[in-house]
Parts: sequence; C-alpha cells; structure tokens
Amino acid sequence: MTALRFPDAFRWGTATAAYQVEGAVDEDGRGPSVWDAFSAEPGRVHRGQTGAVACDHYHRWRDDVALMADLGLQTYRFSISWPRVQPDGSGPVNPKGVEFYDRLVDELLEAGIDPMPTLYHWDLPRALQDRGGWTERETVHRFAEYADTMGSVLADRVGTWWTINEPWCVAYLGHASGEHAPGHRDPAEAFTVVHHQLLAHGLAVKALRTNGADRVSMAVNPSEVRIADDVLGSPDIEHHVARRIIDGLATRIFLDPVLKGHYPSDVIGHTMRFTDWSFVRPGDLAAISEPIDMLGVNYYSPAWVKAEPGAPAMDVYPGSEGIAGWEPADLPRTAMDWPVDATGLRDLLLRLHRDYRVPLYVTENGTAVEEKADADGRVEDRERIDYLRSHIAAVHEAIEQGADVRGYTAWSLMDNFEWAYGYAKRFGLVRVDYRTQRRVPKASAHWFSQVVRDNGLDV
Ligand code: NOJ
Repeated sequence: MTALRFPDAFRWGTATAAYQVEGAVDEDGRGPSVWDAFSAEPGRVHRGQTGAVACDHYHRWRDDVALMADLGLQTYRFSISWPRVQPDGSGPVNPKGVEFYDRLVDELLEAGIDPMPTLYHWDLPRALQDRGGWTERETVHRFAEYADTMGSVLADRVGTWWTINEPWCVAYLGHASGEHAPGHRDPAEAFTVVHHQLLAHGLAVKALRTNGADRVSMAVNPSEVRIADDVLGSPDIEHHVARRIIDGLATRIFLDPVLKGHYPSDVIGHTMRFTDWSFVRPGDLAAISEPIDMLGVNYYSPAWVKAEPGAPAMDVYPGSEGIAGWEPADLPRTAMDWPVDATGLRDLLLRLHRDYRVPLYVTENGTAVEEKADADGRVEDRERIDYLRSHIAAVHEAIEQGADVRGYTAWSLMDNFEWAYGYAKRFGLVRVDYRTQRRVPKASAHWFSQVVRDNGLDV
C-alpha cells in the first residue's frame, strides 16, 4: 500500500447545481428558466421528468449543510439560480431569492465549509431566452449585472467564485445537438453562444473583483481527446488532424481566448463556413481574457477519435465530417455508458498545466452507478469508490508531475436531476429517496469523508 498525501492547502468538497437539486421552481418569486420550459416539452427529458421538486434542497438546505459538516467536507460548490434572484434576468432583484443564498452562505460558514458559488449552471431566465438568450449580446450585459448584484451581496463572505459552468454544454448541447435547453440545432448559433458566454464570463470576473471577490474563475469541461487505439501508430496523418480539430472545438475555443487572449486560428478557419465570427467586436478579447486565479476542470471520461472518410458530422461538433468517435472495448463503463479511464484526468491536468500555466481545481468528477438501496436506504457503491479512488490517485500523479492542482469537488453531494436523463442516473455520494426525500450517505460518502480527513488515500 502506498499512502498518497495531498499538499496541506488542498481543499476537498462536493458539488451540486441549482436546477438539479433545489426544486421549488414556483416559490418565493422565482421566475421560470429555460430548463423549466425545456423539460416541459414532450420527449426532451427521460419520462417527462423535471426539476420542479428535485431534491427539495430549497427547503432542506439546513439539513444538507449539516450532512456535509457530518462528513467533514471543507468546500461546497453550488450554483445560484439566476431566475430565483432576478426573475426576468433584468430589472428588479427578488429579495427572497437573494436571501436564500445569503442564509445558505452563512450556514456553510458557520459549519466551517467554504462556499464556492457558480453563477450560471444552465438555468437562464426564460424572459432572456424569449429575447434570443445567449445568441444575443444583451444577455452578456444582463449577466454582468447579475454578477455584480451577487458580488455585492456575497463577496464580503465568499472568496471563491465560478462564473459559468461548462460553456461547452450550453453552446453545443443547447444549440448544436439540441439535447439540452433551449434545444436548438444551428451551428452558427452554437459559435455565437460560445463567444457570448466567454464575454459574459470576462465581464463577470471584473464585476466580482470590483466587489472584493478573492478568487474568480470559470468551470470548464475540456476534453482529453485521444487517437483511437485501433489506428494508433498508423502513419496516416489524418488521425492527428482529426484529433486536433476536435481538441480545437472542444477545448482551445474556450481556453485560448480566456487564457491567451485570442481565438485559435485553426478553429476560426474550420468554422468559417458556418459563421464569419462578426459577433466578435473590438475590445471583446481583452474583456474575455481578464485574468483569472485558477481554472475549474470538470472531468468524467476521455474522448477517442479517428479520421474516417465519409463519416457524418458528430451532432455536437459542427464541421466534424470525416471524423468518427471510437471507444475502447476493454474499459469498464459507468451507468451513463461512459468508459472509465483515470489516466485521462492525469493527462488532461498535465496538458492544461503545460499549455496554459494556470493553477487548476477539479470542480467536478464522479460517476453514475446502477445501484440498489437496502431496506434502510443504504448503498454499497463499490464501483463509485473504485472510480473516485483511481481518479483522486490520478490527480495526485498530476501534482507529482508538476501540475498545480488546488482542490477537488466530487460530483455530486447527492443524487439529483441529471438533465435529459432525469432521475434515472444517480451520481450522488448521498442517496436520495425521491418519494420521501430521505438522504442516506452511501458507502462512497463515508469513504470520501475519510479521504478528506486524511488529506489523501492509500492505494
Ligand atoms: C457536468 C455538469 O456540470 C453536471 O450538471 C452534470 O450533472 C454532470 N456533468 C454529470 O453529467
């Protein structure tokens, strides 16, 4: 057995997002979001499920904080629901919505848990979507105002902030493949939405800092793109070109502007047939590259690709004709059917360190497991423990090899509304019985709690 110890300042916690856990969508003046509208459309979400009740966290937040404290967690990454604090996305603020997060933050601090809010985890106010949502520049300015409002209320007590969660999903799943709200399929829109989210992020960083925030960043899901094993070693340069194209669309399109101040020229060239990029205005890139203190990294699985003449474009990647996805047959799979490969996390962290020289923070990592609770609601989720163990060990390896990784938040504190999969997929360390809303920590929660206490693990 080897003991893997993490740096003294390393921080451990769990994450959730407002629409996935809060419920109470019509209460205390919350306005509707794009996800309320999208999940109400037939065929969009598994069995027509919605986040209307979810984990009822809006009413049970005190107990949920107590649960985190019992588990000894040090940080909590949650998201603020924009339509709860500003029902129309512009105009008056809803005092009751603001109060909810104000009290949540105080309770967390009281319990010794560091609150780390995300301003945008996909629940755009519907009123803004009705005016074009992220395809319109107006949304960028409304977001900056919202960031300023939240900063003025919370930055006296909240040090760490995440602006936008996984802009990849909003742009490509929301506007190219249509799997997520608002469910559009239009490549030109997708690239406009990339840019507007990045600009919104940059303006929000500035607004939060003006209000005294210490550490500000974005949480992205950069792809660890690999060449398919079955063509690895092939002299055909096309596979490398395929890998580079997907890496550009998945990762560099977001990180180059934020951390280097420009869009990657190969990506611009590759997407010219969909858009002339005229939505980029003078001054935008300077605003987007407003310095950040670290980068939040969400990681679940690598992606494998190869060149395949005649392959149709992948739904999520406009312009990916001739490139095919591929998956190794010999890796274990999660309940999402995602291959499990912890080396992907190590390599991704090292690559981000090498290419962007920025402190890193694992803002999400975890797995959905097919699991059964016993009569007392207990779950022996060995697979989740194995997943977490191998991935936490991978973070340790990346640190040993030079990456500056500051913390880890597991996805997720508790089972919740998994977007288009509804409640069918369980990612929680804590079991939620949706009939009674009873929470029972799974074996993985107790295991993770020990990792936090030891600031490391034995492998
Ligand atoms: C990333 C997203 O940020 C989160 O909302 C989602 O539940 C997890 N991945 C799992 O798919």
